[in-house]
Amino acid sequence: MIPWALLGTAKIPNDGGELKLTQRENDFSIHLVGVRGELMNSRMHSSELALAELGCAHIQGKENVKESAKKNAKVLVGGLGMGFTLAAALKAISVSSQVVVAELVPEVVEWNKGPLGECAGRPLDDNRVLVHLGDVAELFIMRQATYDAVLLDVDNGPEGFTQAGNNDLYSIESLQAIRDTLHSGGVLAIWSAWHDPKFTQQLKKAGFKVKTKTVRAHKGKGSRHTIYLARKI
Ligand SMILES: C[S@@+](CC[C@H](N)C(=O)[O-])C[C@H]1O[C@@H](n2cnc3c(N)ncnc32)[C@H](O)[C@@H]1O
Repeated sequence: MIPWALLGTAKIPNDGGELKLTQRENDFSIHLVGVRGELMNSRMHSSELALAELGCAHIQGKENVKESAKKNAKVLVGGLGMGFTLAAALKAISVSSQVVVAELVPEVVEWNKGPLGECAGRPLDDNRVLVHLGDVAELFIMRQATYDAVLLDVDNGPEGFTQAGNNDLYSIESLQAIRDTLHSGGVLAIWSAWHDPKFTQQLKKAGFKVKTKTVRAHKGKGSRHTIYLARKI
């Protein structure tokens, strides 16, 4: 069997450990070094696409969205990973809309500018994309209604995995801050490898109307993942 080739390593800020990018033929993997495991694999990306498709459905859909909001939608994607969610968000919005993608690890952005970028069709080359290099949480501090959708896939679920500091993202206070950065009717969508009914309650306590969808990892097959869809009411 062809071995995986190491393409790069990167330190995760805030003592988060190390990321490793490897490639085997057309497959790429981003790992957290040590026992922590895989963060993203290019072969399994259906649920990352679903995160954007479901999280942005209300923008182009018929549900009480003003024409101006459809034309000039603003979407926040956190984080970049292999760019699948970003690419699907770009498909879901108009030519005059914008996507901000927040990525904590600068090397991940660099990797996406190299061969890794082919996986999702080089979404960083799209002139509707603005990269925020840093923690996605920084974009919620101002609590200003800015986005029509916030698509979060920074961990494997609603608990800190990439860095311990991400735990704070899923607290009631942070969820309320995210709610404040959404326009009325806007949607916070969160990717998770598991379904946690307690997190649904947490989102409700933060003032969202919540639905969950089960999606498969790979074209209707593979592991079942959960997308939390939390609408600002
Ligand atoms: C599972 S991957 C995202 C996969 C992505 N949805 C895709 O389609 O390829 C998680 C990404 O989030 C980044 N990340 C982790 N914590 C972050 C944070 N607090 N702010 C911004 N990016 C973060 C990681 O470096 C990694 O690139």
